[in-house]
Amino acid sequence: MRTHYCAEIGEEHIGEVVTVAGWVASRRDHGGVIFIDLRDKDEVVQLVCDPADNVEAHKMAEEVRDQFVLLGTGKVRARGEGLENPNLKTGKVEIVVDNLVIENRSMPMPFELGDEKVNEEIRLKYRYLELRSQKAYDTFKLRSKATIATRNALDEMGFLEVETPVLTKSTPEGARDYLVPSRVHGGEFYALPQSPQLFKQLLMVGGFDRYFQIAKCFRDEDLRADRQPEFTQIDVEMSFCDQKDVIGVGEKLIHDVFDKCGFDVPTTFPRITYAEAMEKYGSDKPDLRYDLAMVDVIDIFERCDNEIFSNIAAAPHKNRIKALRVPKGDEIFSKRQMKGFEEYVRKFGAQGLGYFQMKEEGLKGPLTKFFTDDDIQAIIDRCELEVGDAVFFGAGDKKLVWDYMGRFRIYLAETMGIIPADTFEFVWVVDFPMFEVEDGRVKALHHPFTMPKSLDHNDVEEIESIAYDIVLNGTELGGGSIRIHKEDIQAEIFKLLGISEEEANEKFGFLLEALKFGAPPHGGFALGLDRMIMLMTGAESIRDVIAFPKTQRAQCLLTQAPSPVDGEQLKELSLRIRQTPKA
Ligand code: AMO
Repeated sequence: MRTHYCAEIGEEHIGEVVTVAGWVASRRDHGGVIFIDLRDKDEVVQLVCDPADNVEAHKMAEEVRDQFVLLGTGKVRARGEGLENPNLKTGKVEIVVDNLVIENRSMPMPFELGDEKVNEEIRLKYRYLELRSQKAYDTFKLRSKATIATRNALDEMGFLEVETPVLTKSTPEGARDYLVPSRVHGGEFYALPQSPQLFKQLLMVGGFDRYFQIAKCFRDEDLRADRQPEFTQIDVEMSFCDQKDVIGVGEKLIHDVFDKCGFDVPTTFPRITYAEAMEKYGSDKPDLRYDLAMVDVIDIFERCDNEIFSNIAAAPHKNRIKALRVPKGDEIFSKRQMKGFEEYVRKFGAQGLGYFQMKEEGLKGPLTKFFTDDDIQAIIDRCELEVGDAVFFGAGDKKLVWDYMGRFRIYLAETMGIIPADTFEFVWVVDFPMFEVEDGRVKALHHPFTMPKSLDHNDVEEIESIAYDIVLNGTELGGGSIRIHKEDIQAEIFKLLGISEEEANEKFGFLLEALKFGAPPHGGFALGLDRMIMLMTGAESIRDVIAFPKTQRAQCLLTQAPSPVDGEQLKELSLRIRQTPKA
C-alpha cells in the first residue's frame, strides 16, 4: 500500500510523489490548513492538507481524529524556514497531500500514548495500544535483535537449537508447577516446564554435544518486578566440558549479544566466590557498579567491654560483626538520616545499627567507650577510615547480618546517588554451596542434579557445588552448573536431600535410568532473556519487555485469563470445582 516508511522520507525525496501509511499521532487545524502527524512503526512524518492544493483531501482531513488509520499520497517538499523539527528524522520535509484515504477509524483513546503515569491496569487491558508507542517499538526491536544475535552466536559455536516439550512432568526448579489436566487420562496432569533442565540433560545423553533453546518457562511463584509466571530463558547445555568451558561460552554469548544490541561490554567478566560475595556485599548477586564493601571486625569486637558484642563475637562460626565504611559519610549524613538508617535495618530483623564517625580529633561515636585505644586504632586501620568518613556496624547471626547489611548497602548507594547510569558490571558468582538448611530441612540451592565438588564433609552446609550465577548490576541474569552424570553420586545427593529411592524414581526415574546408559560429563546454564532486555533498556519492570505480560497477581488483563470454564469441559477432563476461589 505504501511506497515508503515514514522514516525513509527525507530531503532526497523533495519533488517526488510518495504514499505513506500509519496512525494519526496528532492533528492541528491552522486556519484552514490541516497538519497531520502520521506515525508508522517507528517514525512520524508531517502531512499538509491545504484546500488551496486539494479540496477533497482537505475535506477528508477534517474528519480525521487521533489514531485513525490513513494512507496519504502527495509530493514531498521542504518545510518553510524556521518550521523544521530537529526531533524527527523527517523534520526537514513534509508531504503535501493530494489523496487521503481513511482506512479505519478509532474510538477515542482510553489513555494518552506514552503517558507512563496512567494506571497499569488500563495500560495492560489495552496493551496493543501501548505497543503503538515509540518506546515499546524500540524495546521489542532490541529484544528481536538480541534473540537473533543469540541464535547466531550459539550457531557459530556449534550449538544445535532443539525444542523440548511443554506438556511434560514436573521439573526441579523449586517453584510451584502450572498443571494441565489430561482428558485422555482422567485425573492425571501434565506440568508445564519450569525450565528444560531434564530434557537438555537427556539431549546430552542422546549425544547432541551442544544444545540451546530460547525456551518458554512457567513458574507459579510470588511475582516481583523482575519475575513473571511465564518467561523466556536462553537455555544452553554442552558435553565433555568443565566450568571454565561453560563460563567461556556464556561470556562469548553475552558479549556478542550486547555488542549486536549496541552495548560495549568486556569479553570476560570477573569471578567472585559465593563466600566472598556474602562476606563483602551481603548478597549472592552483588551490584559492583559501586564499591561499599564490608569488612570483618568480629575479632576486634571480641575484645570490647560490651557483653552484647563480645557474646556475639564469641561464636564466629555462626555470627558476624561487619563494618561498612561510607567515605565522607560523616560529612554527608544528617543526624536524622543516621536515625533513619537504623530504622531501615530494623525492618529486616536487625537489633540496631552501630556507627562511628571519623573526626579530626579521632574516632567518635556511642560505642568508642567500650574499646581500648589500640582497638580503636585497629578499627581505623581495618576499615581504612579517613577524616569525614562514617562506618556502620551490623552484629548477630551471619545470615541475618549478611541480609540486612547487604540491603543497607544498596539503600545507602541509592540514597547517596552513587549508582552510575548506563554501565554494565557483570560478575560470575562461583562455588555456591550445594545445600541450604531451612527449618531443619536440607534443600538443594540450585537443583539436585548439580555436581558437588566433593562429598567429603562433616556438615552438609559446607559442601560446595560446581554451580555459578552470572550477575549483572545486582540482578541475577542467569545460572548454571556442571551436572551429575554418575548414578552413584546422584543417589548420594538424593539421600542427603532426604528423597527416598522410591520418590526419586517416581519423579526423575527417566533421568536416573538415562544416567546408566553412558551419560557424558556435561553442564550448562540459562540466562533470563526478559531480565537481560530489562537491564539493557533500563526498564523498571519486566512487564515492559514482555509483549503481553501478566500482572503481579498472574492475570492477563487483556484476555481475562485465567477464567472459569464451562461444566461440560470440566466433565470431559474429569474435574469438579469444589468451591469458587475468592476474587
Ligand atoms: P534458574 O532457575 O536460575 O536456573 O533460572 C535461570 C534464569 O532464568 C531467569 N528467571 C526468571 N525470569 C523471569 N521470571 C521468573 N519467574 C524467572 N525465574 C528465573 C533468571 C534466572 O537467572 N535450569 C536452570 C539453569 C541451568 O542450571 O542450566 C535454571 O532454570 O534470569
